[in-house]
Amino acid sequence: MKITFYGQSCFGIVVAGKHLLFDPFISPNEKAAHIDIESIPADYLLISHGHGDHVADVLPIAKRTGATIISNYEIVTYYGNHGIKGHPLNHGGKWEFDFGMVKYVNAVHTSSFPDGTYAGNPGGFVVETAEGSFYFSGDTALTYDMKLLGEYHQLDFAFLCLGDNFTMGIEDAAIAAEFIDCQDIIGMHFDTFGYIEIDHQAAKDHFASKNKQLTLMGIGDQVER
Ligand code: NI
Ligand code: MN
Repeated sequence: MKITFYGQSCFGIVVAGKHLLFDPFISPNEKAAHIDIESIPADYLLISHGHGDHVADVLPIAKRTGATIISNYEIVTYYGNHGIKGHPLNHGGKWEFDFGMVKYVNAVHTSSFPDGTYAGNPGGFVVETAEGSFYFSGDTALTYDMKLLGEYHQLDFAFLCLGDNFTMGIEDAAIAAEFIDCQDIIGMHFDTFGYIEIDHQAAKDHFASKNKQLTLMGIGDQVER
């Protein structure tokens, strides 16, 4: 599958001919000024939680593309009130979509919309497809719940937050990679703001010392998995 990074925790993934877009935060991100949100395709928008750095561009992209939102009940209801269609999940629940299975899983974080509306509890996603399976952590602390993902899912790669301060940092993200039993990690939630700037080489070296591979994509870069 083809993966494009749009900054912070926003990734576009093409799988089974469908365009999945995770946590769109592009237009307020000065470091993503070269990305034209009008050109980003989306059939599904997967939203981990309600914080502004994950939902800033949901409405314009959903309205332009007609994409279906996949998130928790509260977030799907919120966007439903804005005329956007969605599929509500809650923690531990899964659904078979036309590109594969999506399960909404635990995250240890907080969640509310920028306007103060309750956004339910934050989560992450396990996505299992014929082209491979992956985990998208959302914003989270390291949690022992991740061991369940390692024991009961075969994850080919994973998107892990690692910018520290608001989420896991490098050390905890490397432990998370062990808990989920996954070698191939794509980092997210780093460098966007001063609080979450990281030393790329030190981060990669730390993961390598645990026999894990860490990929830190530049905004606009694409990789295949
Ligand atoms: Ni957050
Ligand atoms: Mn965040």
